[in-house]
Amino acid sequence: MVRIAVVEGDGIGHEVIPVARSVLGAVRPDFEFFDVEVGYGRWERTGSACDSGTIADLRSADAILFGAVTTPPDPGYRSVVLQIRHDLDLYANIRPVRGEGFNIVIVRENTEGLYSGIEWRESDRACTLRVISEKGSRRIARCACTLARQRRHLTIGNKANVLKSDVLFVDICRQEAERAGVPYETRYIDALCLDILMHPDRYDVIVTTNIFGDILSDTAGYLAGGLGMLPSANIGDRYAFFEPVHGSAPDIAGQNIANPIAAIRSGVMLLRHFDDTGNAAAVEEAVGKTLAKGIRTPDLGGTTGTREFGEAVLRELSHG
Ligand code: NAI
Ligand code: MG
Repeated sequence: MVRIAVVEGDGIGHEVIPVARSVLGAVRPDFEFFDVEVGYGRWERTGSACDSGTIADLRSADAILFGAVTTPPDPGYRSVVLQIRHDLDLYANIRPVRGEGFNIVIVRENTEGLYSGIEWRESDRACTLRVISEKGSRRIARCACTLARQRRHLTIGNKANVLKSDVLFVDICRQEAERAGVPYETRYIDALCLDILMHPDRYDVIVTTNIFGDILSDTAGYLAGGLGMLPSANIGDRYAFFEPVHGSAPDIAGQNIANPIAAIRSGVMLLRHFDDTGNAAAVEEAVGKTLAKGIRTPDLGGTTGTREFGEAVLRELSHG
């Protein structure tokens, strides 16, 4: 048995994750799913959004399928996703962005850089320390090179013309690319944000530091048809966590109108993580055929509900 922890979280997590879970269950009868409750709903009910027992449950799984959690503007509330990424040392954030004529994977360093958390206030200024370590750079560079070797090439997104910390990052990425025999180029991140929109077909695997990856991946998300379409993976050496890029979408929660494709595609990434390329391709094809029939949720201009979209994908799978 393969044990999959399922965290619906809050809001539309309760709608899109059951769809993704039933699609995974249809292709992998050997998956044993178990629910783990985290998030704002749990915090309201019990006073705790996620505790050490929850983290232990997540660690006991072979992989984690995660929906989204609501982060309220309450100063006493710590972001659950950030806590899980930290506690499970999920250092690589992987976001594929695909569309007509392009197929890009952005590999973002997830634990340091400008999100180091080392910041302080002085009398007349505030400082945030941008930490780029050799170890942190090397492990993300290796992760990106492994992907790039199975694909075409690597782009190293950086701002080394201004930031000394990025000189280190680029050096390590170059070393790893050369060692892996991966063709690579370096691009300044600002120019890259523009060029990815103008010429997405020129890019394959892009590796970059934390905040640049955050901004670049949302920018590139525009190319793929919006938030309802975008999956992601958070990977470490021991744990793997798959989640749609979108949040809990309280504005549409509870109405059965959320697009479950981002969640289903996160499930596809989970299948690939277990090297199950056959089922991953089958699920992708079933989603593609469903869309081609004009079956779409309202964010894509259709009238189909979340559950009904999931049922249509399951029908395609059983015909396949
Ligand atoms: P959001 O991604 O939840 O929603 C942004 C907009 O996109 C909304 O109009 C929403 O209706 C729409 N949208 C999102 N996913 C959709 C889907 N699958 N189908 C159709 N439309 C969709 O981001 P927002 O509104 O900034 O945040 C809402 C809550 O989610 C906040 O509490 C935030 O902290 C949390 N959040 C959690 C994340 C996570 O768990 N990883 C990531 C981003 C936000
Ligand atoms: Mg973001």
